Amino acid sequence: MGTGPTKRMTMERIYLDNAATSWPKPESVYQAVDHAQRVIGAAVGRGNYKNVVEALRLVENTRGQVAQLINAASRQCISFGFNGTDTLSTAIFGLLKPGDHVVTSTVEHNSVLRPLKHLEATGVIEVTYVPCDQYGCFAIDDVVNAVKSDTRLVALIHVSNVTGSIQPIDDLKSRISKSGNLQTRFLLDAAQSLGHLAIDVQAIGCDILCAPGHKGLLGPLGTGVLYVNQDVADEIQPLRFGGTGTDGSVEFQPTETPDKFESGNLNLPGIAGLNAGIQFLNSEQGKAAHKNWRSLSQLLLDGLLSIDGITIQGKPTLQDRVGVFSISIAGIDCRDAAGILDSTWSIQTRAGLHCAPMIHRALETEQQGGTLRLSVGLFNSEEQIKTTIDAIGELARANL
Ligand SMILES: Cc1ncc(COP(=O)(O)O)c(C=O)c1O
Repeated sequence: MGTGPTKRMTMERIYLDNAATSWPKPESVYQAVDHAQRVIGAAVGRGNYKNVVEALRLVENTRGQVAQLINAASRQCISFGFNGTDTLSTAIFGLLKPGDHVVTSTVEHNSVLRPLKHLEATGVIEVTYVPCDQYGCFAIDDVVNAVKSDTRLVALIHVSNVTGSIQPIDDLKSRISKSGNLQTRFLLDAAQSLGHLAIDVQAIGCDILCAPGHKGLLGPLGTGVLYVNQDVADEIQPLRFGGTGTDGSVEFQPTETPDKFESGNLNLPGIAGLNAGIQFLNSEQGKAAHKNWRSLSQLLLDGLLSIDGITIQGKPTLQDRVGVFSISIAGIDCRDAAGILDSTWSIQTRAGLHCAPMIHRALETEQQGGTLRLSVGLFNSEEQIKTTIDAIGELARANL
């Protein structure tokens, strides 16, 4: 009889759910949120007193930082939302009209799939779902071949939140344009890539980019960024209408970005934290943390590969992926595995479909209730990753 899992002596939290939201944040992020709440304490654009001016300056500075990060033509291309889903809904519902055709993939997250499914089910649009291979990657040829003369939108994920695999999107826009489909807009869901991978929206011809501010950008929950190329901005109707803190005498919603998409009070504490998060990423400390994240991801990948009874989804080499790993452990349900990892070792992972049901059909992980996902963060330590490898090894051996 086995002795059962070895309980750790100290139960320090090992957080490996950074694909859901990054934690911890850099200290400067907590301080910036606190400062915005305690000291600035004003509503952006509402009034002219000095705290309002400071709030506005901070928001505009953050807009500029996001623009610079993705090489947007100007900061006017950047609007703030409340999470990735919010910015995706703004773009998808704002752009599409009756009769439009959309190309997307089976790799997508529900925040892309559900708006599209809703519009498809209500007869507004037609959707083509491009399949993925055994690594959970779609093929660029399949996407390009699916584009038709009435394709208004190609909406694709940059990095899968299930497999961590980087998708082949670099030449997409130029190939679509070359085939003559000049009205087709390219939306990139950069939820799992922004902050982790370099993104140049002009180089890849991305018309719309949506991302949370609370994952790779290290900002607080409640933040999201929407990039819309200025040539395309007029084509997207706002989702929310209301006060924008600009000219209140005008009875209609502003038509210029970012005001057009930013009705209602902005999340100043969140944006202040996002500002500090991006500053951290650009700092020497941030670059070192990023390097740490890459080497710990490699360590975890190698460790998982060395354990019998483990199946790892996605590309086998780190250069084709980020530090998000979906695994199955033979003989144990992924939800039970997540529960044991948490209760015995205080290792926090996520089990299930990860809001991306279609990819699990392709990977044949749907029947088993999905996968166990471990997502490495910038501030994990080598010791934490080694403990995790040992714990998963014990779990796997106990169930072989
Ligand atoms: C690929 C992908 N897209 C969109 C989202 C939605 O982001 P949010 O949770 O900020 O709404 C997520 C969140 O996990 C994601 O992984």
